[in-house]
Amino acid sequence: MNRKDFLLKYVNKDKAGLEIGPSHNPIAPKSEGYNVEIIDHTDEDGLIKKYKNDASVDVLNIEKVDYVWEGQTYKDLTKKSQHYHWIIASHVIEHTTDFIRFINDCNDLLTDSGKLILAVPDYRFCFDQFRAITGLSKVIDAHSNKHTLHSIGTIAEFHLNVSSRGGKIAWKEHHSGKAELLYSHSEAMEIYESAKNSKEYLDAHAWCFTPSSFHLILHDLKTLGLTELSVADQYSPGGSEFFFVLSRETTSNSVDRVKLLLETQKEVANGVSPSFMRKTHIRFRRSITKRLKQLSVF
Ligand SMILES: C[S@@+](CC[C@H](N)C(=O)[O-])C[C@H]1O[C@@H](n2cnc3c(N)ncnc32)[C@H](O)[C@@H]1O
Repeated sequence: MNRKDFLLKYVNKDKAGLEIGPSHNPIAPKSEGYNVEIIDHTDEDGLIKKYKNDASVDVLNIEKVDYVWEGQTYKDLTKKSQHYHWIIASHVIEHTTDFIRFINDCNDLLTDSGKLILAVPDYRFCFDQFRAITGLSKVIDAHSNKHTLHSIGTIAEFHLNVSSRGGKIAWKEHHSGKAELLYSHSEAMEIYESAKNSKEYLDAHAWCFTPSSFHLILHDLKTLGLTELSVADQYSPGGSEFFFVLSRETTSNSVDRVKLLLETQKEVANGVSPSFMRKTHIRFRRSITKRLKQLSVF
């Protein structure tokens, strides 16, 4: 299954949907007939202007933005409630200043059986590789303190550590190569100093997850009564991203916290997800068995 197959698995093209932050890379484009509305940080013209000199971007993929988000709740922005059957947010949640508010804002817009469909970077295999995994405390504190800007700690940590590996900013598990910081120390310091005295939003990745740590945080937030949505489906193909589907209809009773804690520990320690290790192990066993059969050992 490829990323688009999974992201569109719960999408009914004809039913009202919302894509948050599609920018130049929509998953369910209007041009392909999806009954979709778009929230982004700037309008279509603003996005075209932003990307028109970027050779890696096809600005023809940028679509009409229905709602320009300026920090208000999505309910206030769209004037809608329990309306959308599906919401897609690909590589958006890690940018949010208040993770819990984002989930709850989306929940407010979803119908009872609606699905929130997320693509999330795995920090181990992207430019967040040298950062610390996000724990529950930071997520809850950002919500209690009603963060609308990234904390100055996030700005410092992100800009000091954002980095590439073998020239890439996102990669597969087995990719290796030279690690390089994307900002010099003085550039990162300059950004930090100016952010200290600014009330302007400065973009950064606030949250760093692996598939299991993300699942655990979602489960804990639900059981603490901070969110209503729980995990309906997930897909972790390995590499620099994973996918979750959240819904109000599902329950999270079957979650084994200890299992998720141990999986998270393994993922962080190995730098490789246990599911990837299992798949690799099975592939390795199959190829050895095939080779032995060819050599008539069996
Ligand atoms: C990294 S881009 C992802 C673009 C595209 N979805 C993709 O997967 O390649 C993040 C996008 O989310 C938008 N964004 C970030 N935080 C947001 C928020 N809280 N609400 C709405 N949009 C947001 C940004 O403006 C940007 O367009």
